[in-house]
Formats: sequence, C-alpha cells, structure tokens
Amino acid sequence: MARSRLSSSWTLLLSLVILLGCLIIPGATVKHDNFKKCSQSGFCKRNRALADDVSTKGSSWGSPYELDASDIHFENGQLQGTILKSISPTQKVKLPLLISFLESGVARVTVDEEKRMTGDIEIRHGSQARKERYNEAQSWALVGGLDVSKSATLSTEADNGFTKVLYGPDNAYQAVIRHSPFSVDFQRDGQTHVQFNNKGYLNMEHWRRKVEAVEGEQDVLGTQEDEGTWWEESFGGNTDSKPRGPESVGLDITFPDYNHVFGIPEHADSLALRETRGGPGNHEEPYRMYNSDVFEYELNSPMTLYGSIPLMQAHRKGSTVGVFWLNAAETWVDIVKSKADTQTHWFSEAGQLDVFVFLGPSPQEISKKYGELTGYTQLPQQFAIAYHQCRWNYVTDEDVKEVDRNFDKYQIPYDVIWLDIEYLDDRKYFTWDPLTFPNPIGMEEQLDDSERKLVVIIDPHIKNQDKFSISKELKSNGLATKNKDGDIYEGWCWPGSSNWVDCFNPAAIKWWIGLFKYDKFKGTLANVFIWNDMNEPSVFNGPETTMPKDNLHHGNWEHRDVHNVNGITFVNATYQAMLERKKGELRRPFILTRSFYAGAQRTSAMWTGDNQATWEHLAISLPMVLNNGISGYPFAGADVGGFFHNPSKELLARWYQTGIWYPFFRAHAHIDTRRREPYLIQEPFRSIITQAIRLRYQLLPAWYTAFREASVNGTPIVKPQFYVHPADEAGFTIDDQLYLGDTGILAKPVVSEEATTADIYLADDEKYYDYYDYTVYQGAGKRHSVPAPIEKVPVLMQGGHVIPRKDRPRRSSGLMKYDPYTLVVILDKNGQAEGTLYVDDGETFDYERGGYIHRRFRFEGSSLVSDDIATHGSQSAAYLKTIANVRVERVVVIDPPREWQERTSVTVIEDGAKASTSASLEYVTQEAGKAPYAVVKNPNVGISKTWRIEF
Ligand code: GLC
Repeated sequence: MARSRLSSSWTLLLSLVILLGCLIIPGATVKHDNFKKCSQSGFCKRNRALADDVSTKGSSWGSPYELDASDIHFENGQLQGTILKSISPTQKVKLPLLISFLESGVARVTVDEEKRMTGDIEIRHGSQARKERYNEAQSWALVGGLDVSKSATLSTEADNGFTKVLYGPDNAYQAVIRHSPFSVDFQRDGQTHVQFNNKGYLNMEHWRRKVEAVEGEQDVLGTQEDEGTWWEESFGGNTDSKPRGPESVGLDITFPDYNHVFGIPEHADSLALRETRGGPGNHEEPYRMYNSDVFEYELNSPMTLYGSIPLMQAHRKGSTVGVFWLNAAETWVDIVKSKADTQTHWFSEAGQLDVFVFLGPSPQEISKKYGELTGYTQLPQQFAIAYHQCRWNYVTDEDVKEVDRNFDKYQIPYDVIWLDIEYLDDRKYFTWDPLTFPNPIGMEEQLDDSERKLVVIIDPHIKNQDKFSISKELKSNGLATKNKDGDIYEGWCWPGSSNWVDCFNPAAIKWWIGLFKYDKFKGTLANVFIWNDMNEPSVFNGPETTMPKDNLHHGNWEHRDVHNVNGITFVNATYQAMLERKKGELRRPFILTRSFYAGAQRTSAMWTGDNQATWEHLAISLPMVLNNGISGYPFAGADVGGFFHNPSKELLARWYQTGIWYPFFRAHAHIDTRRREPYLIQEPFRSIITQAIRLRYQLLPAWYTAFREASVNGTPIVKPQFYVHPADEAGFTIDDQLYLGDTGILAKPVVSEEATTADIYLADDEKYYDYYDYTVYQGAGKRHSVPAPIEKVPVLMQGGHVIPRKDRPRRSSGLMKYDPYTLVVILDKNGQAEGTLYVDDGETFDYERGGYIHRRFRFEGSSLVSDDIATHGSQSAAYLKTIANVRVERVVVIDPPREWQERTSVTVIEDGAKASTSASLEYVTQEAGKAPYAVVKNPNVGISKTWRIEF
C-alpha cells in the first residue's frame, strides 16, 4: 500500500515535472510529419536509388546516355547535339543538348526532351497542363550575361570519342565532352575543376505511356523499375495526380580536389555544407529546396526552408568554382566527399536540365558572374539599411505613435515601424481596420516628421469573400491560380478561405500594380513600404503547407514546374507596383520577402522567417546570413530577439549586438510574446541595446558603401572568412565572424550565454585594433581572446583601411543626411591605408545618372588624400550642390608614426580653395597594448571635394 501510495505521488510529481517542462522548454520542434523526407518523395527516392545502384555496380555500370557523334554542330559559341538515352536494345529517346559558351567565361548546359518539346505526348486525367518541360525559369531568374562568346572554338586536337571546346578568357578554359557515355569535364588551365556525369547519375526521366506492368518484365537497366511513385503520389492526405508521369532530371556534379562546398540557401545549417549520406557529423537526408513555410524549423538541418538559390560554390586554396542549377521545381542535393573530391548529386522533379558552370578562380569572380546573370542587389533606400522595429502587432495607430514617441524619449534611433496582419479589416489586404486604425495618414505624417517610414504587410492570399471587391476582381477577371481541374483554387491562410493571385499572369500583374495607387490603397503616403510574406505560397491546409503540385498557373504550367519561383513573381509584381504608385514619383521600392529564388536580390530584402528566441537560433543566424551573401542575395537578416517565445534580457541584448551586423536589421516578435521594444528593457540592457543600435547608425556610411559594391559587383555585404582570405585553409569553415564590406571591420558577435570573451580568428598578420580602445591584436592563423562583457560587441579594425562614419546620434538616418563625417584611418604595417565612400540621395534613381559621390581616401607617405572615383553623368552637378556643405569634422589616425607626437597641426589643401589652411592635431598616447592615435579636429574639408591633409 505504502509503496503504491509512494509510487502514485511520484507519478504525480513526475507528471507535474513533465508538464512544467513542456511549459518552460521553449518551442516544440518542427513537425516532421508535415514535410517529406527523401524516401517519401518519389523522384528523390528514385534518383538516390539510381546513385546507389550505380555505386553497387561499379565499373560494370554503363550510363545509358550517349551524345550522337554524327550530329554535333558548333556555331557562334554554341554546341548543339542530341543525347540519346537507350531505354531498350532498340529504343533511344532523343534529348536535345545545347551548350552555350558565354562571353563572360560561364558555360551553360541545357538538355531537353524532344517528345515533350514537340508535344508528342499524352497527358492523363484530361489535364490541361502544358506538355513541355518548363523552360521559363530563366525569364524570372535571369536578366543578362547571356551573350555568347565570339572566341570559343572547337579544339583541333584529335581525340576519338570526344569533342573539345576552348573558351573563356584567352581560351584558357576547355570543355571536354565525352560522347559515350555522355559526360563533360570543365577545365581551367589544363586542370579539371567541374565534372558532369562523371559518376553516371545523369537521369532524364523520359515521357512514357502508362501501361500496366507485366510481372517480371525487365527494363534496359536489367532491373524491374518500381513504378509505385510514377503516376500518383499521396502525402499527408493529398494525392498528386501527376498527369505527365515521372519527369525528373538528375545529374552528378563532381568538384575534383575540392574539399569545401558552400551555398544552396536556404537551410538552417553551417556555412560549409555537410555530407548527406550519413556518417558521424553528416546529414542523412539531401539538402532540399522546396520553398516552404516550416513551422518552428529545426537547426543544423538540410530540411527545406522558405527560399532557395541553387548556386553552389566549391572552394580550395587558390580556387573557387561554382554551378548554378536553374530549375524552379522541387530540388534535392546530395553531397559526398571522397578522398579529396566533393561529389554532388542534384535532382529536380520536373523541368529542363539547365546548369551554369563558373570557373572562378576567386569567390569575387563567382559573385560577379552570377550577378551578371541574375542581377545585382538593388541599391536600397538609405532608411532600409537602418533599424526596423516590428512586431505582430502594433495594435492601433495610437500605439504606433506612442512607440514612435518612446524611441525619441529614450533617444534610441530607428527608421521604420512595421504593421503585421492585424492592421487589416478582417484580414483583407489593402484595407485598414476602421476601429483600430481610423487615421493611418495621421500616423504616417507623425512618422514622416522625423523622416521615418511605415512598412505594411501584403500577402498573396486574397480573402475569398464576394463582398470584398478585390476578391471579386481577382476571381471574375481570371487572375487567380487554378486547381488541376481549371477551377479557381481555394485554400486556407490568415483570412480563412482564400484565393491566390497568379503573378505568372501579365494581366494579374497589371491589376496588382493598380491596387497600390494612392487613390486605391487608401491611407498610404509615400513613406509606406511593403512586406510580402507567405509567398512560398503558404497554404495552411495544403500538402506540405503549400499548394498542390497539380495546380495550374498562367500558361497552364503546373505548380510543380514553377513552385520555387512562385514567391518572386509576387515580389516582382509588388516592386512594379511600388514604382508606379504615382506618376513622376520615382523612389526605390523597399520590399521584404520571405520566399525567394535566384534573382530576388534585384527587388527585395529577405529574412530567415520564424526563428525562436534561443541562443542556438541566434548562433545559426550568422551562417544563414553569410550564406545568403555569398549566394548573391546579401540583403538578409533574421528576426532580432527571436520570433517565437520570450528572450531573456541577456539574449535580447546579444541579439541586438548581432543584428547590427545583419544587412537587414529588424526586430520582430510573435503575437503571443511580451512587448520588447528596446526602451522597455531594464537597465543596463536598455543602454546596451541603445549603444548597439547607435553603432549601426554610426557606421551607416560604411554599410551604404558596401551595398553600393554589392549592387555593382555582387559582393556580399558581410563576408565570411573564406571569401576575404581564400588562401587560408584554417578559416574555410569559420562562419561565426564576419567582415563588413571592404572596411576591414571584423565583428564576432557573442552568441552564447554568459560569455565574457570572444575568440576572434585572424588569418593575416596585419595589426587589428579593437574598435573602441585600439587594443592591438596581431598574429596570423590563430585565435585571439577579445574581452566581450555584456556591454561590448567584439569588433576589430584591420590595419590598412579608412572607415567613414557619422558620429552624431540622431533619431533616424534621414535626419543624419547632411551630418558631417568622421574618417578613421587605420595604418597598416607599411604606414598606408585606403578606403572608399559612396553617397547619394538615398531615395531616388538619380544615382543611375551620376547623382552620387564616390570617394577614395588614401593615406600614403604623410598625407591623407581624397580622390574622386565617380563616373559623372547628367545628375552629378545637381547632386553635388545638395551636399556641397557636408564636411569632414574629424580624422582619427590609429597607430600614427611616433614623430607626430611633436606636431600640433596639419596642413589642409582643398581643390579650388584660395590657400591652404591648418587644423589642430592632437596625439594621444595610451597604456601598453593599446595603440596611440592622433586626432585632427575640424579639418574643414568637403566630403565631396578633392583634398589633401598633410601631417
Ligand atoms: C508569418 C511570418 C511572420 C508574421 C506572421 C503573421 O509567420 O513569418 O513574420 O509575423 O506570419 O503575419
């Protein structure tokens, strides 16, 4: 008895503990059942099985693909031919091949399927779906770089069974095309860097008629293929009708002698991609790219997230190469490392095989060439790179105004406040809740008084309600996505029953543009910008929380074909709409998107979706943001503070200290969380957060200059170690510290609890200086312990740079527009330094016609010089006039020559000035370990002028 009583009270206690545990352990984990594993996705399983089969068979395996040697044509930089796939001893399927050698040195390999191209196939279930393999991904992803090479030539070197093409700079690249089995080696300077079908996993699932399988019948591969997933697939209660049957495309891509691969965002994982075929520290599943709204996503996982960019780069000391897999359908990538090689295996559910090969040799070259194809980052408005304050939700217009006033009261700068879905009347986009937001214009005017902006959310699902005029227009004009039967597709999202605008349809885009005009979207002023969320699209009751794959879009493309570009079609439409809000009012749009694909960088910023208020989520945000940067889409950030759950004060403070290094810097929180605007946080955390935000504002000139670089060269705005030091092998996997643009600023945000120091890895033997007190760190190839008490963000400055800053704290970046600059000159080992500054009006497109300044600062000998490196245009003079009076108010030189101790002044010579002037120089010595510095106060030179300061 006693024992049983005891045991029952123990059970009670245990249950209580478990219950309590459930309440306090933040966040459940992702619901795996909602998302497919490879084994639950027919084509993933089939392609993996093929790889396994090939590996098992070893040298006895013969890939059934051969290039028809009698039919190869080379003309104008393009090689055309036909790959024949043997499907029986007498039957061959024709797969037209086109290899384009581009002027940029990039090669593009496209393979299609003749029968589908000519429509010579039958589709089941009476479906209206298109017969072709999807060939329009490029019209969404690509904007240029497709000029074919004039100098590429067929090699004259005789080699039976091969065709060779010389291309690239000085024809130093070579594509070695083997006819049978078909494969291609891409060489640079005589060495192979990228190999296609070297393993024999090439797989184009040709069209076939559904026939009832005859038991025991063997196919050409000698195996009975499992047709179980060919014609229909069910998952989570939904059945995909697959009217075209199996149609996946797969290919192995090997990087010989490369040990590191990066890219293929978006995954919550380390920057260096891991192997995916199991083993210690490896993944079991391939990296998946199928844009999805993954609730409470898990970390260190190859699971898909909201966006995808199928660009991968392989890196080793002295060389970086890359591939871009242009396909909008669901895609998986397996990675296996064998000896020194990295073997990757790519497969997509549908579409053409279309792959670009970049031969580097530097990470910068990949960024540049990939940007030529998919476009560079939009140069954002100045406000967009400042601090954004968001939560789900600010509940009334008065609430917004109160938050706005509080930021001022506590002297915390911010530029943008955001409204999530609760501002709407009944979740109908383009409306305002009349009770809670009776006066949106008044609210926007108050924000505008301090140059602040408002962002409102507009999602692609439209409430399905006849009396809602937008819903009526959408449906009656045939602008919505359709289901497999050609009727308007209906599903569930925030508004309940909804329909989805189909932005593949030009008529839908035109209509969408009209909705944003000021007289249509009432209650909006010019300082209102847009957040496009849920555009994967997220459908609460759809398979894998998205649309059925057999839904139909404009042109009768199946959703299957276009899923991964769906998100950007919507953002593009919004971008157009923002450009056309009012005739003559041309401002750079700002749009935040959750879903993305290659090319999204041209129109939008992204964030990493619904993260959680945990230290682990804080930590993973760095590799995620860095990965986006090297993948051509650097305007990226994570919800500061964590979306789900309540962060501790320490976590919140550390998150701000980290968030100031995200190119897109926004705090956001779930509706169930407590308010956490920085001014609400108890001291000392309020001041700590304020200081962090002010550091971002102080460095805005450097950030803007880095954005300009990204917008013309495709370089990341924050850069990982391997990108800056590509020859330093020890740094290749480091993904928890970052460089800001070309400034030499190296930050290592603290992402663990109760840390008091940070170990910063230095690759080079330049001197690095603590950002605040100039403590010196030096020593290549090792970690240096830097103090990191809670009030400090560990930041170093590398010798050899000039960093532009604005040191006067203001309420918003708009109010800093004409503030004077401070230049921080950090001398290198040779006593030299260099840096750049880009400035424009921060709003319009005038910079495209010369309306900007671009300066280069150089310290050499004993002078600091400012040179003009801008390309002038019709708007140059007008712009220069606006900033003619903006001056440099301070120059700080770190670690100056000792002899400066004797000096008290410098000579200042400004171009066009009648005479030279002088300014005071103060030399400050410091305790051992900290560098001395010298300050020139008010040299009185124009930031837009050419000048020289002689020390
Ligand atoms: C999605 C977004 C989140 C937003 C919420 C409500 O979960 O990712 O940021 O707050 O929808 O709109």
